[in-house]
Amino acid sequence: MKIIQAGSADSVGGVMDDAALHAFIDGDAALRAVLAEVRARMEQDAAHDEAHLFRVARWTVRLAASEGVDPRLAVAAALLHDVVNVPKTSPDRPRASELSADVARALLPTLGFSAADADEVAGAVRDHSFSRGAVPRTPLGRALQDADRLEALGALGVFRCIATGVRFGGAFFHEADPWAMDRALDDGRYSVDHFFTKLLRLPPTLLTEAGRAEAARRADAMVALLRQLGDELGIPLPEARIPPP
Ligand SMILES: [Fe+2]
Ligand SMILES: [Fe+2]
Repeated sequence: MKIIQAGSADSVGGVMDDAALHAFIDGDAALRAVLAEVRARMEQDAAHDEAHLFRVARWTVRLAASEGVDPRLAVAAALLHDVVNVPKTSPDRPRASELSADVARALLPTLGFSAADADEVAGAVRDHSFSRGAVPRTPLGRALQDADRLEALGALGVFRCIATGVRFGGAFFHEADPWAMDRALDDGRYSVDHFFTKLLRLPPTLLTEAGRAEAARRADAMVALLRQLGDELGIPLPEARIPPP
């Protein structure tokens, strides 16, 4: 806990910075072992790489701190939350978080966590997923789900959305009708459509107050980017397209 406090002192906006997180993991044999296991098991892509895990860890610690959640469990949950990465196109996709939870439940007791802690982490991992649609019942679960949803928003959300769209052969946007005024939204084909089908609708779904505030801030940045895109294309973003806050 001491390291967290030291870390937050030299962090940006009160978030544990990356160096503090790494010092925290390095100083804890069990967390080091969790990270090694995750590195050995996780199939990474541009949107689901180690950096994603560390950012989610920092926000999970931050959002869970006010609820008195042990930061070790917050970091363990974040490191393990995407350990089984099922591609978005696979029919097994909604089961990814369940499969990751199974790994957490089996693994953590072998690395020095109690069965109760392993259960708490596994529950949070299981419920974090958007496609599963669960509302987590624990403070750790709420913090992890919010931290992961923040990653879909803001500048990071834009990079991750475009990376995933390109990976599955999609275009950035529909050239003639980028805002889908005369067609149905199709986020399998157009990354910008995903802003409207999902991403800009996320902020009210966050469960912690600090998470919701940050989500709204990040969504505003995305809308500003879309407005700029509209200017550049000569097809202004219609206000009606922007979901209410
Ligand atoms: Fe996930
Ligand atoms: Fe994630």
